[in-house]
Amino acid sequence: MKVITVRDYNELSAKAGQLITDLIRSKPDCTLGLATGGTPLGTYQYLVERYRAGDITLKDVQTFNLDEYCELPRCHPQSYYRFMHDNLFQHVDLQAENMHIPCTEGGDPQSQCDSYNTLLNSTTVDLQLLGIGSNGHIGFCEPGTPFTRETFLTRLSDKTRQDNQRFFNSLEEVPTTAITMGIKNILQARSILLIASGRGKAECVAQMINGPITEQVPASALRQHPNVTVILDQDAAALL
Ligand code: F6R
Repeated sequence: MKVITVRDYNELSAKAGQLITDLIRSKPDCTLGLATGGTPLGTYQYLVERYRAGDITLKDVQTFNLDEYCELPRCHPQSYYRFMHDNLFQHVDLQAENMHIPCTEGGDPQSQCDSYNTLLNSTTVDLQLLGIGSNGHIGFCEPGTPFTRETFLTRLSDKTRQDNQRFFNSLEEVPTTAITMGIKNILQARSILLIASGRGKAECVAQMINGPITEQVPASALRQHPNVTVILDQDAAALL
């Protein structure tokens, strides 16, 4: 695990965005695994700026998102489908057929998990972008998730729902379930880029890097992968 510490969130976003830009330039038809949440916003902004400057095209890039809330229609302002369109997809030349996000609308959740998993297993993700939950989750693989898990219907922990309440009007509005890639899917990527910012992530980052490799800290599974880069700002690195 290669750990890079930068000064602040802006530097983190530029560094992560530069790594993704380098990949897209060297492999224009690469497959990206994408994350949502607050942390990647600056990274996506950076990519949009590089696209607008004519430095990259995403016309042959494929994307696979980590997760999607259940209980929200795709048009809901807090669905991850909307998040990706608002913050990245609508601003670049990515083709609609190349964007993949778990579908949680209608249908049977198990078959939705199965079809997303089949799609994921038909490709190899070149770079998987990850954030980390304050409880150590990656994707929505909460503490206790077996490392062998593939795409599944997950119940969000109380901690995750509280952390994500900031995006909703009340805790009651935060979904209780989601479809997420499993840890096994995440570990199948050729490379992994995890970004973490702020003092609220310092404990889980320290556990991921220096604690035991345990299902209680899902991000610790990343230490079993040969090509992981972690970019932290100084606050997130405070306990290393
Ligand atoms: C989002 C995801 C989550 C977030 C994590 C951190 O697609 O899979 O694991 O990366 O909850 O979220 P933020 O960045 O909002 O702190």
